[in-house]
Amino acid sequence: METDSPKHSYEDIIQLLLSGKPYEQIINSAYFYGRKFYINEDVLIPRPETQEIIDIFLSKLSSLDISPSTKIKIIDVGTGSGCIICTLYDKLSVEYPNAQFLATDISPEALEVAKVNIGKREIKLVQTDMIKGIEVDKDTIIISNPPYIPTKIYEGLDQSVLDHEPKIALESGEDGLEHMDKLLEVKEFKFMLVELMPEVIEQLQKETEIKDRSKVLKDFRGKDRFVLLG
Ligand SMILES: C[S@@+](CC[C@H](N)C(=O)[O-])C[C@H]1O[C@@H](n2cnc3c(N)ncnc32)[C@H](O)[C@@H]1O
Repeated sequence: METDSPKHSYEDIIQLLLSGKPYEQIINSAYFYGRKFYINEDVLIPRPETQEIIDIFLSKLSSLDISPSTKIKIIDVGTGSGCIICTLYDKLSVEYPNAQFLATDISPEALEVAKVNIGKREIKLVQTDMIKGIEVDKDTIIISNPPYIPTKIYEGLDQSVLDHEPKIALESGEDGLEHMDKLLEVKEFKFMLVELMPEVIEQLQKETEIKDRSKVLKDFRGKDRFVLLG
């Protein structure tokens, strides 16, 4: 996989931008939490609000006072470029030498991109439907930015997103909960942190008894964005 930025002329770049191609896809890279990641049209371009999931995760983890020798298992579900799991690995692998880092995606193309970004980091990649077939226990921590856009809202997104970013990374059925529902089937974990959107969080609270056992956190725009269970 070619990871160096392709050498486009200035005129090429203008033409590609005018055609609606996102700048990050033209230069094949995007920044996430201060790190540069290889990206292409097979993965979602990391979004600014997703960076906040890292801080929330780290703060929740430190509040639990887990012994550094504990064999925690951190699973990033729907890893895409791998930006979340790579960042967590860099932040935590020294402090928790026994931690296991694992990431899943259903898309083989996305897993190829994640593999490039993982490089020498010890992160296991698994192609599966959400977390199907992955062993979990009381020391498992799940983090996910799954597809969560309801079909109707997806159809009205910017043309540039519709034309250039993978639908499989964004759309999640009529209510936006197709993927989240699969995560909610997991019964054993230390905590689970998931990015969603305000309309979908509202729907989730209507459809399930989750309100009593979860906390909703806002993003930097003041919108309900993250659901923390456990
Ligand atoms: C919103 S993107 C998130 C990508 C990356 N984690 C980020 O935050 O930038 C969702 C990811 O979930 C993957 N995905 C979609 N359906 C899935 C499924 N059923 N099981 C596992 N991964 C899935 C997509 O391929 C995509 O990479």
